[in-house]
Amino acid sequence: MDQLESKITRKTVAVVPVHLYGQCADMEPILEIAKRHKLHVIEDAAQSLGADYKFSNGEVRKSGTMGIIGCTSFFPSKNLGCFGDGGALFTSEDELAKKIRMTANHGQQKKYYHDVIGVNSRLDTIQAAVLNVKLKYLDDYSLRRNKVAEYYDQELKNEKKIHIPVRAAWSSHVFHQYTLRCSSIERDGLKKKLEEKGIPSMIYYPVPLHLQKAYRIKEYGEGSFPVTEMLSKSVISLPIHTEMTQDQTSYITRNLLEIVA
Ligand SMILES: Cc1ncc(COP(=O)(O)O)c(C=O)c1O
Repeated sequence: MDQLESKITRKTVAVVPVHLYGQCADMEPILEIAKRHKLHVIEDAAQSLGADYKFSNGEVRKSGTMGIIGCTSFFPSKNLGCFGDGGALFTSEDELAKKIRMTANHGQQKKYYHDVIGVNSRLDTIQAAVLNVKLKYLDDYSLRRNKVAEYYDQELKNEKKIHIPVRAAWSSHVFHQYTLRCSSIERDGLKKKLEEKGIPSMIYYPVPLHLQKAYRIKEYGEGSFPVTEMLSKSVISLPIHTEMTQDQTSYITRNLLEIVA
């Protein structure tokens, strides 16, 4: 957070906090810095839909509703997922909403009258129908994911070779991912051994943005973001979803503890 301000240049127009894994980034200082520098805040709430952010004055706001625009993804694996690809933007500004709708619909407000150059980014009716039903259950989905996370926490918290997820004081958690950090155990070896026991796990994310071939620029090479690079080598996410049974979660923790012992 202390580095955010130092990265702002004359070219900067917006800050994009990504509420990763299911809890909100610390929005109060981000909003304050953005306001001072007249920057927009665009939240990426694709992994945090339903999470609450608590301001220091006690005010509570939903993830994705604090910036000028909030974005989400309805990819099937998301907390609120459809049956294919989909997404949405949220804003409370009517004019902006109009512009966004127009851009997503080939730049037209009236059929075949194109005011701007747009794209085809409409949500399919079939996906909207699925989401219409599932939206009602979002809080229940979060609750179920939290139950799995609480069980994992309880079982794994005393194992020194791994760190359970940090709970931010300012945000509730919707556990899009349950991500551990390995300290004195080799992450890729652990992943392989879990696999041998029939336990799937995922690495979010194996290659940091600045080291992706598509985004490589000479100012930011290996070593530029040491925390990110360390995390990309040490994190591992365990299975978490709304239909997990006690048998499954206890099989996972029992085997994981045996492997790291
Ligand atoms: C935090 C975050 N932002 C953006 C996206 C992109 O979503 P989509 O693939 O629906 O465009 C994802 C999906 O993986 C995500 O997890």
